[in-house]
Amino acid sequence: MFDTMTVTKAAGALIGSLLFLLLMNWAASGIFHTGPAGHGGEGEEHAQAYTIPVEDTGSAEDVAADEGPDFAAVLASADAAAGEKVFGKCRACHKLDGSDGTGPHLNGVVGRAVASVGGFKYSDPMVAHGGDWTPEALQEFLTNPKAVVKGTKMAFAGLPKVEDRANLIAYLESQQ
Ligand code: HEC
Repeated sequence: MFDTMTVTKAAGALIGSLLFLLLMNWAASGIFHTGPAGHGGEGEEHAQAYTIPVEDTGSAEDVAADEGPDFAAVLASADAAAGEKVFGKCRACHKLDGSDGTGPHLNGVVGRAVASVGGFKYSDPMVAHGGDWTPEALQEFLTNPKAVVKGTKMAFAGLPKVEDRANLIAYLESQQ
């Protein structure tokens, strides 16, 4: 009993002094920050809060470059049901039943070789693009089709939102 009390008191004292140190530390840093924060400090913080979102939407190239590593993570938690809605933007030209329309059928497109649907007349730039439609290649193409495959006859502006691209690709993966 006595030992327990001693331990409890000791622990209490220890926690008390740690708390005191934390408070001192906090107070001290408050004092040190007062100087520089007095005039420009707040203004700078506000300026930054506005600058960051502007940078994010400013350059399409930067956004595309930044989204490289992001995409895998977004795809890992993608929502195929939401992707089915996004596919509404493709439906006018692409079918999922193995038949071709204005564009080639897109069932089984994930992992398929580029421009490999027999009987579909691809544009020369699409044939020259080459490679496979990996999720990464698809998301790059769908961000801005005309920039990625210059001269493609796919008349589609692109899907600027990484979530839309990931959800759509998850949906297409489920359509074999
Ligand atoms: C206005 C019609 C149109 C729309 C809308 C459209 N596409 Fe296309 N798509 C095409 C055409 C045409 C091609 C063939 C392009 C070429 O040969 O240059 C194509 C090609 C493709 C290819 C390459 C297929 C292959 O076999 O290599 C993919 C992938 C693709 N589209 C995905 C999509 C997705 C996903 C959407 C919706 C977000 C979409 N497209 C919207 C017309 C369209």
